[in-house]
Amino acid sequence: MALLLIIYSVITTISVLILIIGLYQKNTNTICQSKRRLDGKTVLVTGGTSGMGLEVATDFARRGARVIVACPFQEEGISGKESIIWNSGNKNVVFEHLDLSKYDSVKKFAANIIENETRLDILVNNAGVSISKITKDGFNMIMQVNYLGTILLTFLLLPLLEKSGDEEEPSRIINTASVSHNVGKVDFDSWKTKTGIPFQYYANSKLCLSLFTRELSKRLKGSKVVVNAIDPGVVGTRIYKIGTNYILGSLVVFFATYFSKDPWEGAQTAIHASVCEKARKISGEYFFNCKVTKKTKLPWFNDIKVNKALWDNTLEAIDQKLPIN
Ligand SMILES: *[C@@H]1O[C@H](CO)[C@@H](O)[C@H](O)[C@H]1NC(C)=O
Repeated sequence: MALLLIIYSVITTISVLILIIGLYQKNTNTICQSKRRLDGKTVLVTGGTSGMGLEVATDFARRGARVIVACPFQEEGISGKESIIWNSGNKNVVFEHLDLSKYDSVKKFAANIIENETRLDILVNNAGVSISKITKDGFNMIMQVNYLGTILLTFLLLPLLEKSGDEEEPSRIINTASVSHNVGKVDFDSWKTKTGIPFQYYANSKLCLSLFTRELSKRLKGSKVVVNAIDPGVVGTRIYKIGTNYILGSLVVFFATYFSKDPWEGAQTAIHASVCEKARKISGEYFFNCKVTKKTKLPWFNDIKVNKALWDNTLEAIDQKLPIN
């Protein structure tokens, strides 16, 4: 009886804490104030057909950009594209199939972009999953979609980004990180396993993405491309629904939406880092609530050995070299 009471109090306390954090985040959320237009620019948003990615893509379309959205689902892609056109009045929107869990798909997609697009000014790596299984390429799907496939795509598109940027206005890469990286680990052995809990793989993938963002920015010094990570905060999106219990997932999405940020609110920091004039020369940083934050003070970030090992292991896993510089 007493034990039950303790368990009950613990659950209640945790729930109340989560609600307070969520409500706090919702109420302190900042909105991107930039009115900058993107006429003549081309932008690409992975996972730009639902949730936060759709909000980011719609915002870019309203600013006049040519918008490419990519996702692995045909129906969602077409309806996402139509929604962007409908809400922005900009017809220059295309949907392309991209499955980040397959290297072949990433290569095919990138080859199409390189051959058929004249420029690429902004790449928003927004897509992410929480499904833990082993892919055809032999990696944990969370690690491959959120990190390895995303980095492969970035590498393949770098020459076009470099070509489209200039000193005054570098092209921008935005990587979607997460506060969960605080409990992440750099654990190369786990990249090809699926024995741990999915959340740990998720946190690991986001930590790797945050660290790699910083390392890549160092290696892109002197180029015409900047790269930053953004933390959207706690946002109610489909990511919680897939891979977990559907009813539980839906409940989490409900609470995350109404007691924390909705996708439009969550999209603001990605939009800010992508378009804001003041952010245009910032590279290797971590944005939260439309500002550079010091949240990257995890010991991992200053460990040169870990970051070098991460760089080497990542390039080996995607079988690439840095294509520019
Ligand atoms: C470029 O676009 C054309 C026309 O849509 C298409 O047939 C071709 O396959 C594309 N190139 C690549 C490399 O995918």
